[in-house]
Amino acid sequence: MATVLVIGAAGKTGRAVTAAPTSRGVDVRAAVRSAPRAEIAYAVGARSISVVDLESGAGLDEAVTGVDAVYHLAPNVHPDEVGMADRVARAAARAGLSRFVFHSVLHPDDASMPHHLRKAEAEKVVRAHLPGATVLRPAAYHQNLVGAALAGRLAVPYSLDSPFTNVDLADVAEVAATVLTRPGHEGVTYDLAGPEVLSVRDQAVVAADVLGHPVEAVRVELSGWVAGPGASLTPQARDDLLAMFASYDRGGLVGDASTLRRLLGRDPHSWAETLRLESDSMRQSSNTVL
Ligand SMILES: NC(=O)c1ccc[n+]([C@@H]2O[C@H](COP(=O)([O-])OP(=O)(O)OC[C@H]3O[C@@H](n4cnc5c(N)ncnc54)[C@H](OP(=O)(O)O)[C@@H]3O)[C@@H](O)[C@H]2O)c1
Repeated sequence: MATVLVIGAAGKTGRAVTAAPTSRGVDVRAAVRSAPRAEIAYAVGARSISVVDLESGAGLDEAVTGVDAVYHLAPNVHPDEVGMADRVARAAARAGLSRFVFHSVLHPDDASMPHHLRKAEAEKVVRAHLPGATVLRPAAYHQNLVGAALAGRLAVPYSLDSPFTNVDLADVAEVAATVLTRPGHEGVTYDLAGPEVLSVRDQAVVAADVLGHPVEAVRVELSGWVAGPGASLTPQARDDLLAMFASYDRGGLVGDASTLRRLLGRDPHSWAETLRLESDSMRQSSNTVL
C-alpha cells in the first residue's frame, strides 16, 4: 500500500487531488496549515494529517517521513511560491524520495502574469533538487465558474469573448493520481488543457442549456472588482490578479488537450459534462443531508 503526501490538501485543488488516489487504494496523508482544517481533508478521504507551515517549513520533515510520493501545490498567488517549492522539494530530497509532482500552471513563462513567472521559477527549483519530478501545468478550472453558473450569472472583469480551454479539476486530479502512483512520468512536464475553446459568453449559453435556467454573462468594471472581491486581498495578490485579468482580456488562456486525452485514455470532460457532474453531485449530497 503506497502513501502519498498532498500539500494544501484542504484547498480547492488539494481536495480534488486528495480524493483521486484514495479511490485507487492509495493512502493519502494530508498536509494542512492548521489542525482545524483536518476535517475537510478527512471528508475527502485522507487517512492521516500533518500540520505544515509552508512559509517557515515547520512540520515538513515529519510530513514526508514514511511516504512514497509528494504532491506539491502552492497557495494561489502567494508571494513566496518559489520559497515554498524550495522547502518542500528539499524536505522530499532529504527523505530520499524520488517521486514528486509539482502543480504548476499552463504557460508559466507568460511574462504578463507575475504569478505564472513564479511558477516557472518554482519548476526550476523543484527540478534542481529532484530532477525526476513530474510537472503538471493545468489550464484554468471549469470549477472556477460552476457556482456562478448555478447562480445564473457569470461575471468577470475581462472580455466576454476571450478564448479559454478550461479543464475539469477532476480530470486534473485523475492525472495527478496516475503520475503519483504509476511509473513512466519521471522528469516529464504535462500541459493539461480542456477539449474545447469557449469564451465566457459561450459558457453562459452552454450552462443555460445544461442547467435549464437563464445564465447571463456580464463584464464587470475593474473598479467594481477592486472595490468588491479585490478589496480583501493584499496589494500584491490584487496586482497579480489584475495582471491576470489584463492578460485574459488580451488573449484568454488556451492550450492543447491532446496530452490530457492521452493521459486519461478518454476525452477530457467538456464544460457541459463538468456542469452535469457537479450539479448531480451537489443534488446527491443535498439528498443525503435531507
Ligand atoms: N484555480 C485555477 O483555475 C488554477 C489553475 C491552474 C493552477 N492553479 C494553481 O493551483 C494552486 C492551488 O490553487 P487553489 O485555488 O486550490 O488554492 P487554495 O484553495 O487557496 O488552496 C491552497 C491551500 O494551501 C494552504 N495554505 C496556505 N498557506 C499555507 C501555509 N503557509 N502553510 C501551509 N498551507 C498553506 C491553504 O490552507 P487553508 O485551507 O488553511 O487556507 C489551502 O488549503 C495555485 O498555485 C494556483 O495557482 C489554479
